[in-house]
Amino acid sequence: MLRNGTLTPRNLPLTPELHDYLLDQGRMTPDPLLAELIARTGAALPHQAHMVVAPEEGALLTFLVRLLGARRIVEVGTFTGYSALCLARGLPADGSLLTCDVSAEWTALARDFWDRDGVGDRIELRLGPALDTLRALPAEPHLDLAFIDADKPGYIGYWEELVPRLRPGALLLADNTLFNGEVLAEQPGEKAAAIREFNAHARRDPRVELVMLPIADGLTFARRLPAGEPPLR
Ligand SMILES: C[S@@+](CC[C@H](N)C(=O)[O-])C[C@H]1O[C@@H](n2cnc3c(N)ncnc32)[C@H](O)[C@@H]1O
Repeated sequence: MLRNGTLTPRNLPLTPELHDYLLDQGRMTPDPLLAELIARTGAALPHQAHMVVAPEEGALLTFLVRLLGARRIVEVGTFTGYSALCLARGLPADGSLLTCDVSAEWTALARDFWDRDGVGDRIELRLGPALDTLRALPAEPHLDLAFIDADKPGYIGYWEELVPRLRPGALLLADNTLFNGEVLAEQPGEKAAAIREFNAHARRDPRVELVMLPIADGLTFARRLPAGEPPLR
């Protein structure tokens, strides 16, 4: 059947078995250190542990850092350091990741894992409201990659600070942009409403071109357009 001029959605429901197969065949199964970080997060913070990015998303982050040859990265939303570890693993030895969070408690686990993986010297954790941290960064376009995965009402503010700091051709990733499907709800909760507003904001921004993929909870890719280059569509 044709819908929106295309075939009906092709995304399969991911059963646990199919998810395992996907991770295995894509070589995305968390290695022992990542698995230990997931387990330690679950034990220490059982009510928040779901916030860690999915294993396939973590693997994608490493892959994208390498694909882009990224050297300067900013992350908004560290939590226990899983996505930061995935990002830092893709960096060259002289690359750097600045990761922002407000919680000293939740980020306390991270440093040990980063150091044990040998990438701790590439990662700076800055505690405090991310908007303040981003505003204090150099204003010129110097970032190769940015990843937003923090408080949803903050997304538009983070976007506005990050987009001008992306070098032409650089990538901004925003997580949870389908928000468990709640973006379609008639009366979305505060977070889903904020994501919906963010999605509309990103969609009309002429400085970037976008794709949005249904990986994990929805992941938006925004590429900063070089001056004069028209968007994809
Ligand atoms: C979804 S978690 C991040 C998960 C992380 N990327 C991972 O893969 O483990 C969101 C994080 O955003 C942080 N956060 C919430 N509000 C913030 C703010 N205003 N500034 C910086 N960080 C914030 C929370 O403390 C939390 O650790």
